[in-house]
Amino acid sequence: MADRAELKLDGKTLELPIIVGTEQEKAIDIRQIRAQTGFVTLDPGYVNTGSTTSAITFLDGEAGILRYRGIPIEVLAERSTFVEVSYLLIYGKLPNQTELSTFSQSLTRHSMLHEDMKRFFDGYPSTAHPMAILSAMVCSLSSYYPEALNVKNKEQTDITIARLLAKMRTIAAYSFKKSMGQPFVYPKNSLSYCANFLNMMFSVPAEPYEIDEEIVRTLNMLFILHADHEQNCSTSTVRMVGSSQANLFAAIAAGILALWGPLHGGANQEVLEMLEEIQRDGGDVTKFIDLAKKKDSGFRLMGFGHRVYKNYDPRAKIIKAACERVLPRIRKKDPLLDVAQRLEEAALKDPYFADRKLNPNVDFYSGIIMRALGIPTNMFTVMFAIGRLPGWIAHWKEMMDDSSSKICRPRQIYTGNNLSPYVPIEDRK
Ligand code: CMC
Repeated sequence: MADRAELKLDGKTLELPIIVGTEQEKAIDIRQIRAQTGFVTLDPGYVNTGSTTSAITFLDGEAGILRYRGIPIEVLAERSTFVEVSYLLIYGKLPNQTELSTFSQSLTRHSMLHEDMKRFFDGYPSTAHPMAILSAMVCSLSSYYPEALNVKNKEQTDITIARLLAKMRTIAAYSFKKSMGQPFVYPKNSLSYCANFLNMMFSVPAEPYEIDEEIVRTLNMLFILHADHEQNCSTSTVRMVGSSQANLFAAIAAGILALWGPLHGGANQEVLEMLEEIQRDGGDVTKFIDLAKKKDSGFRLMGFGHRVYKNYDPRAKIIKAACERVLPRIRKKDPLLDVAQRLEEAALKDPYFADRKLNPNVDFYSGIIMRALGIPTNMFTVMFAIGRLPGWIAHWKEMMDDSSSKICRPRQIYTGNNLSPYVPIEDRK
């Protein structure tokens, strides 16, 4: 393969280096284009643009491959825990026993929120979307830990990382309790990461709450599957905000907000609402498929399609199998699973979806599992955010550790008015 590309422009030839990744992905390095030619490249939605090199996650959308630090997602989902995967993503290797215990203990130690922060929850209406609360609370953490503002202090960064991972689930559970009008439940240090979260979500002072190990395992799997997905919209947001050297709490709060959108993490809530609507409407999936195919309907099949996957999303495959396995075990039968399976089958047979390589993505079946775990629909994207947190942190850290990182500042091609006079108001039409 050539090690350079040539760009011919205005009678001049510019040589552009070729960059090849460890999995043979190829890029044309355009860093010198503007300086040498005065031109910029234009790529709305960054469909063809690599914003960085990264050693965290590899994904091949054509082959349906996803690996964290080289390890296949299928293996991690079956054999690992969310805490171990968080360490793997953030620190670049699987932890040994001592490293895992130390990391795990620090997540336990930092799980409580400052008591004053509890009062913030009172200010929100009970109908507040928990994603709004989550991002505001995560940003507010920076006011309690001003030492985190110094992003160059590596020791401090490790503490900030532990605080974020530990407190995110406490904030999430508190926002749920707030919406239910139930008292907050403090974290319990004797419990594992996921069991602790379940206890804060579902236990009430009036009666004992038994933690089901099957549910703990399923939750670990769900978080692992969401933990990273290279340069997606929210991760790119975290990198963008972090590139100005804003603190980690601020960058993550921004990532949470980017995730909220229905084309990104908000799709899991929309999928469930769509399945409910199909069921209410009598269950005719073809009617909704036809609607999704009509461009002017404004309706898309939520949980279908992906910018990068042109094959079945490997995460969706694992979650679909888990739905079929776990639901009977936890004695939950969900008619929406049947609607989802029929919808998928009909869509995959339809040339519109086949031609455009639109397959179920991670959000298509995840809601059904979360419903079975007792998670309400408006908390689905919060669950995605808890899962994605180690990925966001890993990318922020990778960028901060790279001395060649620059502030992210794209260019544009201006298409507005040329130089225009200021017209006094009395002379305006
Ligand atoms: N239903 C119907 N048509 C679709 C869908 C869909 N879900 N997704 C894409 N298309 C069509 C689209 O209309 C376009 O058709 P045409 O070529 O005739 O104009 C073609 O497929 C390509 O779509 P696109 O919008 O150009 O593709 P994109 O890469 O910009 O968008 C996407 C990717 C995920 C935003 C999009 O597929 C979508 O809106 N899906 C539904 C929302 C969803 O499930 N989002 C979760 C994504 S996975 C989890 C995550 O990353 O957060």
